[in-house]
Amino acid sequence: MKKKKVVKYKIPKDAFSILSDSGTKNRVEYFRHKKTILFKGDVLDRDTFDKQFIDLTVTSPPYNVGIDYTSNNDTLSYEKYLEFSKKWMSNVFHWSNTQARFILNIPLDKNKGGQQSVGSDLTAIAKQVGWKYHSTIIWNEGNISRRTAWGSWLSASAPYVIAPVELIVILYKDEWKKTNGTKISDISRQEFMDWTNGLWTFNGESKKRIGHPAPFPRQLPHRAIKLFSYVNDVVFDPFAGSGTTLIEACNNKRIGIGLEIDKQYCEIIKNRIIKETGTLNFSNEERVKSNGTHHEVLQEAS
Ligand SMILES: C[S@@+](CC[C@H](N)C(=O)[O-])C[C@H]1O[C@@H](n2cnc3c(N)ncnc32)[C@H](O)[C@@H]1O
Repeated sequence: MKKKKVVKYKIPKDAFSILSDSGTKNRVEYFRHKKTILFKGDVLDRDTFDKQFIDLTVTSPPYNVGIDYTSNNDTLSYEKYLEFSKKWMSNVFHWSNTQARFILNIPLDKNKGGQQSVGSDLTAIAKQVGWKYHSTIIWNEGNISRRTAWGSWLSASAPYVIAPVELIVILYKDEWKKTNGTKISDISRQEFMDWTNGLWTFNGESKKRIGHPAPFPRQLPHRAIKLFSYVNDVVFDPFAGSGTTLIEACNNKRIGIGLEIDKQYCEIIKNRIIKETGTLNFSNEERVKSNGTHHEVLQEAS
């Protein structure tokens, strides 16, 4: 039988040297585990970090659809929401290394409380603050069963069209081609072929199971990290939530840095990281059984 190629890798001694100063007064180190650090802090505050350290950001911001987060208001006016988006995307740009990539999971549309083209508006704002556009993946959550909003039922007077998908927008800082880092890619031939097809189909995550109001499924950062970063790169999530990106960073031999404003969610992240790192425990069966996808959560809440 052919032996599987093992990618050799060593935790660099200076894994955290990028952030090893005492930090700024604006962030608190909440938790450190293997190559993962979680800070409790605010992404809107430019002084949260005082250097460029990010190779890859994988994140999903609040969608402003009335989710009952513990610490932030998810019912801003659309104008204020765009201002909020501009500020945090500009800060992440500022903290990113020159060849950094930015993988942004956002809705396509806002369907309740006024129709809005959120996906294209946030992409335009990302470009305004300096990010360059590469392409967009459509995440097909494969779930239309719980749909209730039809507008004018069986009438052309005012029907609602709702696409059960989200966007994963791919952006980068200065240049797309990566020449920095370990140059060690750990993606298989099949994964590369499947994931460079910009239609990704997998279910969302259950908020009940995770204990957070809007987690994304591990498949999302898992694919993004393996496709867009090298082993040992620094992966950042400024809206760490329940820690999904950090878990995948840790399990895939990347340095994970997370920022989360809410203490209760920081605690969820800590417990999840302890439990879920070292295991790749997301079977198809488990995902299919989940009772409420990310998309449903957003539709319900909006
Ligand atoms: C959509 S959730 C992210 C979920 C995450 N992707 C996961 O899989 O668990 C957004 C998170 O951003 C956090 N948040 C909101 N405003 C923030 C801010 N200004 N700075 C840092 N975190 C913030 C919220 O508390 C919430 O946990």
